[in-house]
Amino acid sequence: MGLYARLVLPRIIETACAQEPLKSLRARYVPHATGRVLEIGIGSGHNLEHYTESVTSVTGIDPAPELTVRARERAAKLHCPVYVIEQSGESIPAEDAFFDTIVCTWTLCSIPNVYRALDEMRRVLTPRGRLIFIEHGKAPDPSVARWQARIEPLWKKIGGGCHLSRPMGRLIEDAGFRITELDTGHVPGPKIASYMYHGTAVRR
Ligand SMILES: C[S@@+](CC[C@H](N)C(=O)[O-])C[C@H]1O[C@@H](n2cnc3c(N)ncnc32)[C@H](O)[C@@H]1O
Repeated sequence: MGLYARLVLPRIIETACAQEPLKSLRARYVPHATGRVLEIGIGSGHNLEHYTESVTSVTGIDPAPELTVRARERAAKLHCPVYVIEQSGESIPAEDAFFDTIVCTWTLCSIPNVYRALDEMRRVLTPRGRLIFIEHGKAPDPSVARWQARIEPLWKKIGGGCHLSRPMGRLIEDAGFRITELDTGHVPGPKIASYMYHGTAVRR
């Protein structure tokens, strides 16, 4: 791995993910997590402070040790055990129907085989469990969407594989979830990366 990916990109991700509009979305959704929680792409652990006492454990999966080191530090303040595993969400080391809540924030954009990861999430979620998602993706405005498609190849190179134009709502539904709540819209920031899809879904 190059210096950029090891030293520069983790700092960019840490700073970008700490921005206020993202923090408000975390504060709106993450406190609804309950029971055994699985976080896909835990990164540096920005969601950890939003878990309430209804959470009994958090398992975080993320392939980037440069970020998870910080998640482990943040985990020390939590009331429940936090297990951090360095690997891709495309393969989740857990038995079927193990987790009560899956939290996935600004991560589906970066997973190479996103359908495989969503399949895995569906497998390990209990039948009454909930997926909480906050993701950026394809904008409805055709001119923004055109720019997203144009810039995506370069963006992926500098952004750790991040796709700009994934239609997140459809993707989650196509993977066998039923969306129970969905809000969309731009948050402040560059139009190509600020169209958000956030809500909850259950297994179909
Ligand atoms: C923009 S960051 C978001 C981090 C965190 N979810 C948050 O909300 O602050 C994207 C995260 O996806 C992780 N990621 C990339 N590829 C992944 C994969 N195949 N499986 C799981 N996580 C992945 C990255 O390492 C990074 O931590």
